[in-house]
Amino acid sequence: MRYAEITQRVAGLGSDKWAVHIEGKNRRAAGEKMIFLSIGEPDLPPAPAILDVAARQMKAGRTRYSSGQAEHNLLEVLARFYTKQTGRVIGEDQFLFLPGTQTALAVSFLAIIEPGDEVILFDPYYATYEAVVSAPGGKPVPVKLDPDNGFHLDLALLEKAITPKTKAILLNSPSNPTGAVFTAAEVAAIGALARKHDLWLVSDEVYATLVHEGHAFTSPFFDKTLEERVIVCSSISKSHALPGFRCGWIAASAEFCARVLPVSETLLFGSPAFLQDATAFALSHEFAETEKMRALYVARGRALLEGLSGSNRVSAHMPEGGMFVMVDVRKTGLSGEAFAFRLLREKGVVCMPGESFGAGGAGHLRVALTVDGDEMREAARAIAALAAGV
Ligand SMILES: Cc1ncc(COP(=O)(O)O)c(C=O)c1O
Repeated sequence: MRYAEITQRVAGLGSDKWAVHIEGKNRRAAGEKMIFLSIGEPDLPPAPAILDVAARQMKAGRTRYSSGQAEHNLLEVLARFYTKQTGRVIGEDQFLFLPGTQTALAVSFLAIIEPGDEVILFDPYYATYEAVVSAPGGKPVPVKLDPDNGFHLDLALLEKAITPKTKAILLNSPSNPTGAVFTAAEVAAIGALARKHDLWLVSDEVYATLVHEGHAFTSPFFDKTLEERVIVCSSISKSHALPGFRCGWIAASAEFCARVLPVSETLLFGSPAFLQDATAFALSHEFAETEKMRALYVARGRALLEGLSGSNRVSAHMPEGGMFVMVDVRKTGLSGEAFAFRLLREKGVVCMPGESFGAGGAGHLRVALTVDGDEMREAARAIAALAAGV
C-alpha cells in the first residue's frame, strides 16, 4: 500500500534510543537484578486527593464529550495560574487542553511548520524532539550546549545556527536531560533573537515546578512583548506525578489558540472532562507531595555525587532543576553508549546513553533520579568502579 511520507519521517526516530533500557528490561525479566535509572517517570505516588477528584467526577457523569479547547472550570484555573506566574492578565482564550506535553508539542509543530522549515534544538535535547519537528516535515538543527559550562547557552553558536529557513526555537528549561535551568538573561537573549528573526519560541515547561535552590524558573512567556510568538507546552505529568493521566496544555496567544483549535479537534475531538476536573484541582491547590518530590530529587542527586566522588574518571554536577543528572564519562575514552551497555551487562545498572539525546550528549550517561539514596549510591559506585576498570 502507499503510505504518506510522515511515516518515513518519524520511522526509526524512537526505538534505537532505548536499546539499553530494552535490554535491561529483558535481563530483569530473565531474573537478573538491575537498578533502573533510565526512565524519567516519577516514582512517588500522586496526591490521593487528585485521584479522588478524578474518580468522583467520573462517577458523577463527567464522561461525556467535552469542549475541544477545555472545560470552562479548567480554563478559569489555567488563566489564574498563568496570570499569577507571569504577573500579567492571561485570558481563558489562551489555552488548549491536550493529552500531555508530548501532544502539546506535536500539535504546536503541526501548526507552525511547513516542510523544509528549520527548528533549533538545544543539544542535548529530549528524546522525542526530533520526531515532533520531523513529523510535519521540519528539519531539526541542533545547537550544542557546552558540558563544561553546565550545558548552558552559547549565544554565538545559537546566532550562527539561524538561517532564513529557521522557523522556531525549541527550549526546555529545566532541561531533560541536562538538568540546566536557563537564567533570565539566557531566556531574554533567546527572546531577543526570536524577535529579531521573527521566530516562534516553543517552550517545554514540563519541569517548571522542579527548580532547585539558588535557581529560578524563567519562561519567555513572562515577557509580554514575546507573547505572540511563545507557545508554552506543559502538563501535570511531572509536577504532580501523574504521567498516565495525560493531562497537559498549550498556553499561547489567543490568536494561536483560535487558529490551532481545529487542528487539535481534528486529532482529539476533546479530552475527558473528569481528568480536566482533576487537573483544575491539581493546579489550584498546594500538595505536600510536590515539595517532597523536589527535595527527594535533590537528596538523590547528592547521593549520586557522593557515590561518584572518589572517581577521577567520571564526574557530575548537581542539577539546577528537573530529575536528571548527566554523568561525564569522557575520561574513560568510551562513548556514553559503550559505557551504558557495559554498565548494564557488567554491573546491572541501567542508564541512558547521552547520545540518545543528540550528539551534544556524547560521552555522558543520563541518570534519572528515580531511586532512593542507598540504591543511588550503589549505582554511583558501580559507575565509578566500571570507569576505574576501563
Ligand atoms: C522534556 C520533556 N518534555 C515532554 C515530556 C512528556 O511529558 P508529558 O507526559 O506531559 O507528555 C517529557 C517526559 O519525560 C519530558 O522529559
